Amino acid sequence: MQAAISLPSAPQAGAAMSATTSAATPAANAAQPPLLAVRDVGLEFRTRSGTVHALQGVNLQLRKGEIVGLVGESGSGKSVLSYALLGISDAAARVTSGSAVFGGIDLFGPAMAGLRGREIAMIFQSPRTALNPIRPVGLQIEDVLRRHAVALRGRTGPDLALGMRERAVQALREVGIADPERRARAYPFELSGGMCQRVMIAIALACRPSLLIADEPTTGLDVTTQAAVMDLITGLARERHMATLFITHDLALAAAYCDRIVVMHAGHAVESAPTAALFAAPRHPYTARLMASTPGPTSTLASLAPVPGQLPDLRRDDLPACRFVERCDRATPACRLSLPPLDAGAERAVACWHPLGSEAVAPPTLPTGAGTSANMAAALPCATGDAHV
Ligand SMILES: Nc1ncnc2c1ncn2[C@@H]1O[C@H](COP(=O)(O)OP(=O)(O)OP(=O)(O)O)[C@@H](O)[C@H]1O
Ligand code: SF4
Ligand SMILES: [Mg+2]
Repeated sequence: MQAAISLPSAPQAGAAMSATTSAATPAANAAQPPLLAVRDVGLEFRTRSGTVHALQGVNLQLRKGEIVGLVGESGSGKSVLSYALLGISDAAARVTSGSAVFGGIDLFGPAMAGLRGREIAMIFQSPRTALNPIRPVGLQIEDVLRRHAVALRGRTGPDLALGMRERAVQALREVGIADPERRARAYPFELSGGMCQRVMIAIALACRPSLLIADEPTTGLDVTTQAAVMDLITGLARERHMATLFITHDLALAAAYCDRIVVMHAGHAVESAPTAALFAAPRHPYTARLMASTPGPTSTLASLAPVPGQLPDLRRDDLPACRFVERCDRATPACRLSLPPLDAGAERAVACWHPLGSEAVAPPTLPTGAGTSANMAAALPCATGDAHV
């Protein structure tokens, strides 16, 4: 089992944070081309109460074998992005811009269907609801093998059926389920929550995908089982050189297991950095605030500082260019008008005009009169109109 991250107590926004991460192996080679390249992705939901601008200008990359944590508050767009990548978005969703290319294939095109479950697999948040309650778990693994025509060369008829059964039992064994022959005949309600999640992992990995998306895979599990499940997922990912997008709102968990972290806020990917570098010195004001609100072993209630304000209502038609502007103490009027894109291919990247700990990116010159009214200044908490560096 990997050691848990140690977060310092009561980190302040903007202050450098230190964290002991235990990512098991070095980050994947940054020189290799990305396995997954998400560029400028926008997505909306048409609802009766208005259009939800759920994602905008999202850039993100994953390399072969890399474990990337996607973190952010509830509602920041982590799941919506993963569903879009898998082509399983809600019927009300519409991709409005951008592309997602996986091994040269456009995930927003028709070829996606052939990749889902085979080359790209997903582990969902609650295994009990994701599993079929009235089918033995071994058969559910066989279903996946059959659907993706994972043939057993030279075997037909009863012999093929036997081969499938053996593969399913083997898949259960690989995820550490004891007595897999017997467990294969069990229904989900006969298994513990941790064991159900292991079955979900076995199903997801049955076809040996090259990309695994795990959306809050340990929610609802006790801490010990959580660590065991995370050890299992990341251990198999390392062993099989499988890229993994690990979605969580638990920063400590992401820090303990990921090579790199991408931070999302209100439908924007705002920062991307190697895990240790991010925790040593976050650059986006939101990342720093998120860290300051995360409990560490020595935190007290008084020492934690919640992220101020709330996510903006994503149904607004007047969303500012930087969606953090109404919560940010470094905001200037320019932040409402435009935002530098996140350079997802860079080792470290931040989408902010006034990042922490570095020279400010020069914001665009404001058009005469724009963004300079007293009203706008008043609407920006602590906005000074100066670039903070
Ligand atoms: N089917 C839908 N119709 C309308 N809006 C939706 C739909 N699904 C998600 N949204 C909205 O999209 C935004 C992003 O939601 P998403 O579920 O991706 O958040 P998340 O980051 O995964 O949060 P959590 O950590 O709670 O899982 C939210 O504002 C959410 O209300
Ligand atoms: S400084 Fe400006 S661009 Fe950066 S997070 Fe704050 S409001 Fe957004
Ligand atoms: Mg989610």
